[in-house]
Amino acid sequence: MSGEQRSLIRGLGGYLPERILTNADLAQMVDTTDSWIVERTGIRERHIAADGETTSTLAIRAAERALAAAGMRADEIELIVLATATPDQTFPATAARVQAALGTASGGAAFDVQAVCSGFLFATGVADNFLARGQFRSALVIGAETFSRILDWTDRTTCVLFGDGAGAMVLTAEDPKSAGDRGIMGVELHTDGSKHDLLFVDGGPSSTKTVGHLRMQGNQVFKHAVVNLSNSIESVARRHGVPLSEVDWFIPHQANQRILEAVARRIGIDEKKVISTLAHHANTSAASIPLAFAEAVDDGRIRPGDLALMEAMGGGFSWGAALARV
Ligand code: UT7
Repeated sequence: MSGEQRSLIRGLGGYLPERILTNADLAQMVDTTDSWIVERTGIRERHIAADGETTSTLAIRAAERALAAAGMRADEIELIVLATATPDQTFPATAARVQAALGTASGGAAFDVQAVCSGFLFATGVADNFLARGQFRSALVIGAETFSRILDWTDRTTCVLFGDGAGAMVLTAEDPKSAGDRGIMGVELHTDGSKHDLLFVDGGPSSTKTVGHLRMQGNQVFKHAVVNLSNSIESVARRHGVPLSEVDWFIPHQANQRILEAVARRIGIDEKKVISTLAHHANTSAASIPLAFAEAVDDGRIRPGDLALMEAMGGGFSWGAALARV
């Protein structure tokens, strides 16, 4: 393969565990109400992994669906990049377990990427670069999380916000001449490590030798999210010469309906073009963009040839945006 290749989106798939935890269920556990959660976040329910179901279990299901949507076999996949902040184990990478279960191409590579809620964009950026350079010809990009395992279920300010799930996207490297204007146009990524204390997990192998629990100053994160997401969306579109009015679909990280609306207002985009699925799965961190993307492709909203802009912000802080013609 010679010359720069283009990463084409060939298929998407999502998976949510069977068990549903509603806002009413949560009101039995902590001092909260369905109306508070709906009004402040738009979330109505979330899915919780069963005992024995791990991040890799969810990732494998989502990957199988993405492969089916792409019409490809697992042994045609050379690279797996899996974004997660809730790996099955400290090591090896959860991606390695997914590789073994799927039976992807021998001689390929599989590894994890950690950028919390922005993880899917970071993983997409990594895979896109490998494909563009011709180092691999196909990739599975996965976002998979079991945040239920790192929540403090006595803290109403965080436990109502998150859920478990996985989403996956199949990419293949194509000659730009045959790809036309389709494929990933650009991924823009940012990190500001100085904001660590606003969103973090208070444990880890090297610090506490424990897993820890998620801690967040939600209202501070909210303000930064609106500004950072708006700036990234405008910046990635400007860099690729695309007026925001030409973007068919915005696929945001699904954290809070009020963040989606505030960003849309700030940069003047039509809210009808913003895919929102958070009501039924809450914030699934790295899984949320591919879950929303897969759902909107499956229900016929996003169609081949549409221009899609993905955007996310999370712990780190890490944030970014990606532009792709489906
Ligand atoms: O994916 C990573 C990125 N994360 C995010 O994007 C999350 C961003 N933040 C948010 O989504 C919102 O800030 C929250 C949903 C977390 C909170 O909404 P808010 O409007 O910023 O509320 P707040 O934190 O300012 O809290 C308002 C009040 C407080 O009570 P007082 O101090 O005003 O008496 C909280 O104690 O709401 C109270 N509160 C609750 N009340 C009922 C906080 N959580 C709850 C709850 N039920 N679950």
